[in-house]
Amino acid sequence: MSNYVELSKLNKTYPSPKGPQVIVKDFDLNIQKGEFVTLIGHSGCGKSTVLSMLAGLNEITDGGIILAGRELSGAGPDRGVVFQSPSLLPWMTAFENVMLGVEQVFYTASKEERREIVEYYLTVVGLGDAMHKKPAELSQGMRQRVGIARAFALKPKMLLLDEPFGMLDSLTRYELQQVLIELWRKNKITALMVTHDVDEALFLSDRIVCMTDGPEAEVGDILHVNFPRPRERKAVMEHPDYYKLREHLIEFLEVHAHRKDSMTPVNSKPYPPVSAKTKEAELIPV
Ligand SMILES: Nc1ncnc2c1ncn2[C@@H]1O[C@H](COP(=O)(O)OP(=O)(O)OP(=O)(O)O)[C@@H](O)[C@H]1O
Ligand SMILES: [Mg+2]
Repeated sequence: MSNYVELSKLNKTYPSPKGPQVIVKDFDLNIQKGEFVTLIGHSGCGKSTVLSMLAGLNEITDGGIILAGRELSGAGPDRGVVFQSPSLLPWMTAFENVMLGVEQVFYTASKEERREIVEYYLTVVGLGDAMHKKPAELSQGMRQRVGIARAFALKPKMLLLDEPFGMLDSLTRYELQQVLIELWRKNKITALMVTHDVDEALFLSDRIVCMTDGPEAEVGDILHVNFPRPRERKAVMEHPDYYKLREHLIEFLEVHAHRKDSMTPVNSKPYPPVSAKTKEAELIPV
């Protein structure tokens, strides 16, 4: 199977008072079409840096990224980005905010078709009754729903999410995880998401990529998460492998993220964590 996304020897050096500092070093990751991958690691290790290079919002120091057979340079509507809080224009309604991008991407579509796209995605994320409200009239969770609708409405090749639910209470977070995963499933979109939340990663992902601590952060362990889809939270949490995977992630974050060498693999046959080197051979298609 060919890779849809290839991050090859990605490096990022930032200037610092002590001179240039290598934050991300030789970061290699391949993602298959339609796969949902999460990136997990300690605060400051460089997760957002990797994501923003993929989004084309942060210059790549060295290495390269290929998306759907093309080397990336700069940002583009082929990548939909969702951050912790969406940057919505305050004087425009939810509908108008989403329409802004839709008009640019689907400029050949009729006005009616564009309206249908915007209404469809705002309805699917649960804003059917609130789409003509302005951001100030929406809760934080509702604003984030607008951000998700906007990202999907542009039909990007890839979705990039940087802790999209980090600011939300746990109930809203659960609801929006469900909204996101349903949209992802229906749209068969390739996604890379940064999260701190181990349970969120387990609920959403096909693979979880653990990043080692920076500076010089790189790919640590990679876990395959093969819970059946569509997933239901209770069934996922009751799955016999759930706690094994969860403990593995927590152990990585508590102990092994600080070391450059990868931890000893846990003995969990159907879902073995694999090293970055062997992952493609063992990848189970979605
Ligand atoms: N523009 C910049 N200039 C200099 N240093 C930067 C810049 N952006 C990020 N850094 C540094 O690079 C490192 C990685 O930052 P990054 O935001 O990628 O981490 P992160 O893993 O996303 O953290 P968090 O989980 O807290 O969001 C940090 O030490 C940060 O201080
Ligand atoms: Mg970050």
